[in-house]
Amino acid sequence: MIPVSDPKRGMTALKEEIMSAVSRVVDSGWYILGGEVSAFEEQFAKYIGVKHAVSVASGTDALTLSLMALGIGPGDGVITVPNSAFPTAAAISRAGGRPLFVDVGKNSRTMNPELLEKFLKSDGIEKERVKGIIPVHLYGQPADMDAIKAIAEMARKDDLFIIEDCAQAHGALYKGKKVGTLGDIAAFSFYPTKNLPALGDAGIVVTGSDDLAEKVKALRNYGQSERYIHDDVGMNSRMDDIQAVVLGLRLKKLDTDNDRRREIAKMYTENIKGDFVLPQEMEYAHHVYHLYVMETEKREALIDYLKDVGVGFGIHYPRPIHLQDAYRALGHKRGDFPVSEKLSDTVISLPLFPELTDDEVFKVIDFLNRF
Ligand SMILES: Cc1ncc(COP(=O)(O)O)c(C=O)c1O
Repeated sequence: MIPVSDPKRGMTALKEEIMSAVSRVVDSGWYILGGEVSAFEEQFAKYIGVKHAVSVASGTDALTLSLMALGIGPGDGVITVPNSAFPTAAAISRAGGRPLFVDVGKNSRTMNPELLEKFLKSDGIEKERVKGIIPVHLYGQPADMDAIKAIAEMARKDDLFIIEDCAQAHGALYKGKKVGTLGDIAAFSFYPTKNLPALGDAGIVVTGSDDLAEKVKALRNYGQSERYIHDDVGMNSRMDDIQAVVLGLRLKKLDTDNDRRREIAKMYTENIKGDFVLPQEMEYAHHVYHLYVMETEKREALIDYLKDVGVGFGIHYPRPIHLQDAYRALGHKRGDFPVSEKLSDTVISLPLFPELTDDEVFKVIDFLNRF
């Protein structure tokens, strides 16, 4: 069986270093928000090239706390895309807001700036109380940030905030700039299959704003501004020092891991033949291939075949967010966001992770070409 993803290979390769770092944590006596967490926050901020990195407990929390810090509350609308992981929208709801959707581009599979403009200029938009936008850098490919920012500015001057959802794009570049530096604030996930993986759940918020960083720091820790003094209700969303030492070790090899992901994607793109729509790297993007997502009209048959020959696969995602039962109350129907809907019927993700061998990659290619 060739797995679609295998976090164990990357972690076991570093097992000795990880165990010795964990032993350092055990001996330190600080297990949450200790010195190792501060050291990783500094290391990550430096890597991204941003003033502040505030660690939290997950990518979902990174988005939720960013929204809370920006003051999102009941009745506020936040625009995102229906073609994303569910937590992008769930974070908006958790913060008290309401997700509003704009469809994605057919080739980019990320927010379509033209549709964003159309939406922001539509009749009755005032009643949506739009406060901000969450573009998602999906599958490892940045969204078209310049176009999105220009439209946001044209519609409302500096009034609309932009939160980048970078959960799938650690180290990706947009016109040569790292994702995470392109909006007001950005959220990353360190879920174990991500490009930068932890040994459990973890996430981080990055921002250039002193004010937003201070707010997130307080909100992640029961809303405390100082010990036992609470300016806000907040929540408990803190990083463990064990996760911080693992992330510190993994961050050192993120760029080489991303290079390997790009190499595998290139092998797929150059060698897979047949009736598949393969992913495109947009001209503004340095794609880091968190996922290699192709499209096929024959997905059911391909799934049966891949199961038969022992090739793992993923479907990212089988149901667009606007059609999830959890969002029934928003009143959307099939046909509202046709590009996302089509993608949900046709996408399939191939095995891709840095430790995948050339031999495995060529086996996958060979199987696909014989399908
Ligand atoms: C695009 C996107 N946003 C947000 C999240 C949420 O991250 P986490 O699973 O760490 O809460 C994920 C991860 O699944 C994701 O892929």
